[in-house]
Amino acid sequence: MDIKVRVWRQSDSNDRGRMVAYDVKDISPDASFLEMIDVLNEKLILDGDDPIAFDHDCREGICGACSMVINGVAHGPEKATTTCQLHMRHFSDGDVIDVEPWRAAAFPVIKDLVVDRTAFDKIIQAGGYISAPTGTAPDAHAAPVPKKDADAAFEAATCIGCGACVAACPNGSSMLFTAAKITHLGLVPQGQPERDSRVVDMLQAQDDAGFGGCTNMGECAEVCPKGIPLSLIGRLNSDYRKAIAKS
Ligand code: FES
Repeated sequence: MDIKVRVWRQSDSNDRGRMVAYDVKDISPDASFLEMIDVLNEKLILDGDDPIAFDHDCREGICGACSMVINGVAHGPEKATTTCQLHMRHFSDGDVIDVEPWRAAAFPVIKDLVVDRTAFDKIIQAGGYISAPTGTAPDAHAAPVPKKDADAAFEAATCIGCGACVAACPNGSSMLFTAAKITHLGLVPQGQPERDSRVVDMLQAQDDAGFGGCTNMGECAEVCPKGIPLSLIGRLNSDYRKAIAKS
């Protein structure tokens, strides 16, 4: 299939940036979206041009690195799919496809499609941990967790921290990300000692990092490649109110 891609090119954070159009020919419908960019980059290199900078690591949908907005949608048109798992068969011959980086004040562009997601690390550093002693593996029955809670904690733990929720939110809010981390740890016994300080500190770090506030738009859950539900933000708000009341 032959397509045209219009890609955001920005040499660094001081550059104003612009969309640049490229023709990509003879792409297999079975190629992934990132493989299509690989092919384009090979051509750019052979032509003596600067290849398009983009993030990727696992290419298996588990690391969250492959952040890009495709035709205005974070991670592209397929629901619950990361960019690396998106295949060209979901597009048509002759399509014109727009590719942009995450757009959020807290995620400044480093180059082209690569953004700086250090702000997420700061939220995790503020409370995304437990203080339970480590060592040899405890007996599996030493800290029983109800099946319902274990399943819900696991569902929240599938958040890969890609930042699509922030990119899709009109407010640039990271509430879905923070809610997933708070739920993941707050549903298991090992996460209880820091439960109150965790939610207060992580929300403070979120505000300090420049993320916007949540106004229940719901775009975050729509684009989340792991299907993290919007209801977790309600759980975060509940935990926050309880922590503030106790303090
Ligand atoms: S490259 Fe790891 S999730 Fe896409």
